[in-house]
Amino acid sequence: MADDAPPPGIDASVPNPARMYDYFLGGKNNYAADREAAERVLRVAPEARVLARRNRAFLRRAVRHLVTEAGIRQFVDIGTGLPAQGGVHEVAHELDPTVRVAYVDHDPVVLAHARALLSGAGSTVTVRGDLRRPEEILADPGLRSLIDLSQPVAILLVAVVHFLSRDDKPAELVARLRDAVVPGSHLVLSHVTDEERGGAAREGAAVYRGSDAGITLRNREEIHGLFDGFDLLDPGLVPLDDWRPGDENPLLRQARRNLPTWFLCGVGRIP
Ligand SMILES: C[S@@+](CC[C@H](N)C(=O)[O-])C[C@H]1O[C@@H](n2cnc3c(N)ncnc32)[C@H](O)[C@@H]1O
Repeated sequence: MADDAPPPGIDASVPNPARMYDYFLGGKNNYAADREAAERVLRVAPEARVLARRNRAFLRRAVRHLVTEAGIRQFVDIGTGLPAQGGVHEVAHELDPTVRVAYVDHDPVVLAHARALLSGAGSTVTVRGDLRRPEEILADPGLRSLIDLSQPVAILLVAVVHFLSRDDKPAELVARLRDAVVPGSHLVLSHVTDEERGGAAREGAAVYRGSDAGITLRNREEIHGLFDGFDLLDPGLVPLDDWRPGDENPLLRQARRNLPTWFLCGVGRIP
C-alpha cells in the first residue's frame, strides 16, 4: 500500500492508528503521514514496536487457550486492524478448521485489506461496524450468517477500547455486548495504561490526538471495570507477557519483565 494511491475517500495525509500500528509491526500498509506519526511515538516510547508484537502474542495465546481449553468455536474480533499474519482464524484453524471468525472494524482501509486477505479463507466474514454501536455489530446479517449467538462466543477487544473516549462510556458498551451473548462466552481485552511511565504514555497518547482517533489512557481500576460481569481467568489483569506465557524461555521472560508494560490484558468468562 505504501506507494499506492489511497482508496477513494481516504485522506492519507492524516495519520491513522491502524496504519501506525501496522508500521510498528513492520507492515507495509501505511502512508508517509502514518510513518511520521509512528516515529514520533517511537521517540517518546521506543518500546512501541515490541509492545505491538507482544500484544499480538497475547492475542494468539488467548485464542489458543479458548479453542483448546474453553471449547470456543466462534470469535468476534472487534478492532481487527491490519496485521498481515497471525490473524485469529489462522491461529484457531491450526487447532480446528471449523472455528468461525467475524472480523469487525470501522476503518474502510482495514476492511478493504481484510477482505482482500480473507478472500478464499473459509469460515470468516468481514463486517463494517463501530464498537460504539454494539447492537448493530451483532445484528449485522453477514456476522449472523456465520456466528450463532445461541452458542458461546469469544469477543475480542484487543488494543481497541483505548480509542474510545470517556464520553463513549466503554464499560457500558462492553456490558451491552456481554448481555447479548450467552453464558460460557468470553471477553479477551488489552488496553494501554498510564500506570507505569505515566509521562511517556501521555506524550505517546498526545501524538494520537493529531491522528483520526485519540487515545484515552486508563488505570488498572478502570480497565478492570470493563470485565464487570465476567469471571477473570487466571492470572487476572496483567502485563502482556504475564498472561499464560507457557513454556517461553524464563530468561527471555525475565528480560522482558524489565521493560515497562504500558498495556494490561486479561480474559474473562461469563458464568
Ligand atoms: C491498534 S489496532 C489493534 C488491532 C488488533 N486488535 C490487535 O490488537 O493487534 C486498533 C484497531 O481498532 C480499530 N478501531 C478503533 N476504534 C474503533 C471503533 N470504535 N469501532 C471499531 N473499530 C475500531 C482501528 O480501526 C484499528 O484497526
